[in-house]
Amino acid sequence: MTAAATTPLGAASAPRGRRRLLVGVGDDLDRHAAVHGPRRLHGPVIIDEIDRSGLTGRGGAAFPVATKLVAARTAMTRGQRSVVIANGAEGEPLSRKDVVLLMEAPHLVLDGLAAVASAVGASETYLVAPASLAPRLRAIVDRRIAVGWARRPTVVVDAADRFVSGETTAVVDRVAGGPGLPHDRRVPTATAGLRGRPTVVHNVETLAQVALIDRHGAEWFRERGTGAEPGSMLVTLSDDREIRGVAECDIGAPLASVVDRSARAVLVGGFHGTWIDGRAIGSLALSAGSLREVGASPGAGIVHSLPAGSCGLEATVAIVDHLAGESAGQCGPCMFGLPALSDAFRDLVTHGGAERAEIVARLAATVDGRGACAHPDGTARLVRSALVAFADDVPQHAVGRCAARTPGGHR
Ligand SMILES: Cc1cc2nc3c(=O)[nH]c(=O)nc-3n(C[C@H](O)[C@H](O)[C@H](O)COP(=O)(O)O)c2cc1C
Ligand code: SF4
Repeated sequence: MTAAATTPLGAASAPRGRRRLLVGVGDDLDRHAAVHGPRRLHGPVIIDEIDRSGLTGRGGAAFPVATKLVAARTAMTRGQRSVVIANGAEGEPLSRKDVVLLMEAPHLVLDGLAAVASAVGASETYLVAPASLAPRLRAIVDRRIAVGWARRPTVVVDAADRFVSGETTAVVDRVAGGPGLPHDRRVPTATAGLRGRPTVVHNVETLAQVALIDRHGAEWFRERGTGAEPGSMLVTLSDDREIRGVAECDIGAPLASVVDRSARAVLVGGFHGTWIDGRAIGSLALSAGSLREVGASPGAGIVHSLPAGSCGLEATVAIVDHLAGESAGQCGPCMFGLPALSDAFRDLVTHGGAERAEIVARLAATVDGRGACAHPDGTARLVRSALVAFADDVPQHAVGRCAARTPGGHR
C-alpha cells in the first residue's frame, strides 16, 4: 500500500510536545503520513491561514511570510506562472538547523513547498540543498511521486558552497544554472526572479512550519511563542570548540535555557550577527523583541557562546577574515572594503588602542549598506558589536595583555 493510501484523513493529531518539527520521522514517507497526516488546504486560503498564524521567515530576516506570498500571487500573470524555491543552502558556518531538518523532516519541507506552490499558483518548485544531501533528497522526491503523495516533482539543485550563496538572488542564480552569487536586486525577487517570473524563496524551516500550519491551523501555531512572534524555531548551539546541536525552542524562551550564564559573551545570529555581553544573558529571551534591546536579533537561530577566559577580539577577527574571503567580488566596497576592515581588525587585536578601534569603526561605516547584497552590512554589524562587547579588551591589548585572561579582568 502507498503512504498516501494508508493515511486515514485527519488521523494524525497536532504535536503537543516541545518538538513540532524534529519528531524523529526521517525519510520514511509512511511514518511521515502516520505522524503528520495528509495536507489539508489548497489555493489562496493557505495565505490567509499563514497570515493569521503570524509566521515569519526563519532564514534570518523574519519577514512576514504572507506578505511575500501576496506579492508573488499579485505579480503573476497568465503567461508568467510563479516559481517557489526552498532555500536549504545554509552557507552560515555556525548553522546546522537546515541540514538537520532536511535529514529529520524532509517531507515536511516538501509538503510546505507544495502548500506554498498551491497558495501562489506556482507551476515549478525547486529545493536548493547541500550537494552531499542532494541524491538522498532526489530519491525522496521520486518516492513521493511514485506513491501519489505529490503530483509535481520538485527539482533538487546542488547549493553552491559559499557564505553568500544562500542569499535570495544567489539562490535564484543557482537554480538558473549560474555559480550561485548574489545579484543587484532592483526589482524584488517575489515580483521578478527566476527567468523574470514571480519567485518565492523561503528557508526550508519556514516551509516546514507552513506544512504544520496547513494541517493544524493558525491557532494551534500560536499556542507557542509570543503574541508578537508566534511559533517555535530551530536553534543551532555552538561554542568555541564545536557545534553542540540543534534545539527546537519556543520563540521567547529564556536565552539562559540554551546558553550557560557563565559565558563571557554570546554571538546571536551567526557571522552576520551581534555579540552580547555574557552578563546580559539572564535578562534576555530568544525573540527579536527581547534581543532588540541589545541591538541584536535571533537571525537564523544561531547561538554561539564564548566561554569565560576567551578573547572576544581574537574570536571576531577569525570571523571577519572568513567573511572578507567570502565576498563575491562584484561590488567595490565589499571586494576591497572587507579585506581592509579585516586587516584593521587584526591590527587592533595585535596592538590594541582606542585609535585603532576608531579606524575599525570608520571602515565598518564605509562598507555598511554599500553592496548589492547585505554581506557588507552584516559584517559591519558584527564588527561594531565586538567593539562594544569587548571594549575592555581594547586598552589591554595595547599593553600586551587581554582583559579576558587577566586575573581580575573581564570574566
Ligand atoms: C549573505 C547572505 C546569506 C544568506 N544565506 C542564507 C541561507 O544560507 N539560507 C537562508 O535560508 N537564507 C539566507 N539568507 C537570507 C535570504 O536572503 C532570504 O532572506 C531567505 O532565504 C528568505 O527566506 P525566509 O523568508 O523563509 O526567511 C542570506 C542572506 C544574506 C544577505
Ligand atoms: S555585496 Fe559583496 S557579496 Fe554581496 S553581491 Fe556585492 S560583492 Fe557580492
